[in-house]
Amino acid sequence: MKHLAQYLCLLVLCLPSPWLLAESDAIGLANVKTLKIDRGLTTEGKACITCHQQVTPGHVADWKESRHAHAGISCIDCHQVAEDAPHAMQHANVEDTPVFVSPLVSPKVCGRCHVDAKAQFDASGHFRAYHQIIPKDNLHALQVIHEGRNHPELSGAPGETGCMQCHGTEIKLDENNRPTAETWPNNGMGNLYPDGATGSCTACHSRHKFDIAEARHPHACASCHLGPDHPNIEIFENSKHGHLYNTEGDEWNFDTAPGAWEPGDYRGPTCATCHMSGIGELSVTHNVSERLYWNLWDKESKVRGSEDVLSPLLGDGPAGREKMKTVCSNCHSSTHTNNFFAQGDKAVRLYNEAYYQPATKMLEELKQEGLLKANPWTDEFQITYYYLWHHEGRRARQGAMMGAPDYAHWHGFFELQQDMYKLEGIYNRRMQSGKIE
Ligand code: HEC
Ligand code: HEC
Ligand code: HEC
Ligand code: HEC
Ligand code: HEC
Ligand code: HEC
Ligand code: HEC
Ligand code: HEC
Repeated sequence: MKHLAQYLCLLVLCLPSPWLLAESDAIGLANVKTLKIDRGLTTEGKACITCHQQVTPGHVADWKESRHAHAGISCIDCHQVAEDAPHAMQHANVEDTPVFVSPLVSPKVCGRCHVDAKAQFDASGHFRAYHQIIPKDNLHALQVIHEGRNHPELSGAPGETGCMQCHGTEIKLDENNRPTAETWPNNGMGNLYPDGATGSCTACHSRHKFDIAEARHPHACASCHLGPDHPNIEIFENSKHGHLYNTEGDEWNFDTAPGAWEPGDYRGPTCATCHMSGIGELSVTHNVSERLYWNLWDKESKVRGSEDVLSPLLGDGPAGREKMKTVCSNCHSSTHTNNFFAQGDKAVRLYNEAYYQPATKMLEELKQEGLLKANPWTDEFQITYYYLWHHEGRRARQGAMMGAPDYAHWHGFFELQQDMYKLEGIYNRRMQSGKIE
């Protein structure tokens, strides 16, 4: 069976993918709903499909609609693992078979065939989504001690059902090599797998269809990029581009082959168009940090310029800005684009200079005077400071940079000035009285 997988990998790697696409399009495979499974599948490979058609028909139905089915890539190619792999388990219901399987399919498996997508993902900010949380004691304290109330058995719940479903976690195995209930199921972006791989390709291409059309829709990002601290889907909807998508996006063409999806298929950009897709002279990238200039989630916004995947400044800011402007240039003039970025950068700098810097100066002075509570989550000053950068400040910066006036203003700068007055009031009272109220 391994031979088939290797053969297919070679096929994919050696042939330019437009050739493959052109051929499958020419014979109209994309529209075939029922499939005769015979080509190159071993007896064991066919058995998975035949039996799972009865046991879990949902998996087989999705898989049948995928490009993988058309290319003869089936259950066994992704789920079979070597007998000595850490997560290998003897398939419980299939007797007398040498095939070991696992429900876990890491990006390493996908990367056997999709070499570029995996390499780009591994160099992106998405790669670190869980790695970066591991060393942060204050974040573990928030999840376990404060949110989990330090409960002897149940304190893991907030992290397991919250943070790690977006960020991922280290997937652990039980004594039968099955993933534990504390760590799986989990679609989080930065999962650490028992085979050593990091990431989640299903975060945007849900199984078992593994579709590019799905990932080009803004809602493929919305399951994580939403809410008070990174309201990217709300920002998109508030932008003129969201207006276009919401009023007529269902008529756009999302199925075009990678690299050939261009204006004409759509009138306005989605998240993917600006951050990932090929457009004009830009090629597809799975590195979402590649087209960014600023870091807009950290306490203070700085220009990107680091190759360290764990650095908040991952990327090359000036080169990223040029790439992002190239996206815009497909539909807007350079005056329009340059003026837009001048407006956005001004808002980011105002946040840095008129909010982050003075608020941090007050925080540091209070700390020096011993006027901060030890538990930050009971201290009005520290709570407000947290909202200032983590919620309001991100909304103002990201709203301005993606053309969303409601987030730049009402959910952004309006609330920021309220936070500032509150911080100044607490600061003055504490400095004058020498006491925490
Ligand atoms: C004779 C029927 C049969 C065959 C053949 C079969 N399976 Fe299964 N498979 C099952 C059943 C039953 C389950 C358990 C479903 C459940 O737990 O609800 C299962 C579960 C699984 C799981 C999930 C295991 C878990 O613990 O989550 C995977 C992955 C899987 N099968 C893959 C395969 C692959 C790959 C093949 C071919 C090598 C295959 N199966 C062949 C019947 C079969
Ligand atoms: C292109 C690779 C690929 C193919 C082909 C594939 N799977 Fe999967 N499968 C995955 C991925 C990825 C996951 C999610 C794994 C994870 O969470 O780590 C998954 C999860 C599963 C699970 C466990 C999760 C659940 O929803 O129950 C089962 C069972 C399963 N697949 C069965 C099948 C069957 C049956 C087939 C053939 C019809 C199949 N898979 C074909 C990649 C694949
Ligand atoms: C054995 C090789 C192989 C493996 C393993 C594999 N793929 Fe694929 N994949 C292919 C081939 C071949 C195509 C079809 C290319 C084409 O149609 O041009 C494809 C197509 C795709 C597409 C494009 C679908 C579309 O709508 O055009 C996506 C997305 C994808 N794979 C994701 C994945 C993910 C995620 C995994 C791991 C869970 C995975 N693949 C594992 C070989 C593989
Ligand atoms: C499963 C959840 C999830 C999905 C789905 C998701 N993201 Fe993310 N994204 C994250 C997380 C978590 C981070 C923060 C990573 C870190 O730095 O820890 C992030 C960070 C980012 C960043 C900033 C990277 C950096 O270098 O700071 C961009 C840009 C981004 N995502 C764009 C997208 C786009 C576009 C999509 C959809 C095509 C998408 N994301 C889908 C979870 C997700
Ligand atoms: C709804 C999905 C979601 C949940 C739940 C979530 N995050 Fe995030 N987180 C994100 C996204 C998306 C970003 C990226 C924001 C951006 O790029 O502007 C992010 C960014 C971060 C960052 C900054 C990135 C970096 O590289 O340092 C940290 C730290 C973080 N989250 C920790 C946590 C912790 C701890 C929890 C639980 C207490 C949590 N997150 C819950 C989606 C989520
Ligand atoms: C943040 C969302 C996101 C994640 C995570 C993601 N993809 Fe994609 N992927 C996309 C988008 C969007 C496209 C379509 C780009 C375009 O418009 O052509 C795409 C296209 C593809 C394609 C077809 C284009 C090509 O370059 O061949 C493949 C194959 C693919 N992805 C595989 C993967 C694999 C493997 C992983 C995991 C390492 C992965 N994807 C993770 C969003 C994602
Ligand atoms: C019109 C193009 C465009 C669209 C559409 C778009 N973005 Fe952005 N996005 C940008 C620009 C420009 C920036 C700021 C880049 C810079 O200069 O740093 C940005 C910034 C971000 C950031 C902040 C990264 C950080 O450093 O904190 C995230 C996260 C993000 N976008 C996610 C998304 C998501 C998710 C969607 C869809 C819901 C989306 N974007 C739609 C252009 C776009
Ligand atoms: C696929 C084409 C397309 C791309 C790519 C695109 N836009 Fe747009 N954009 C439009 C259309 C169409 C409108 C609506 C024009 C109208 O209001 O009549 C629009 C509207 C806008 C608006 C609202 C103001 C106005 O003139 O209507 C801004 C600001 C904007 N775009 C900025 C950008 C920026 C910045 C980028 C790149 C990061 C970008 N756009 C990429 C098509 C695009």
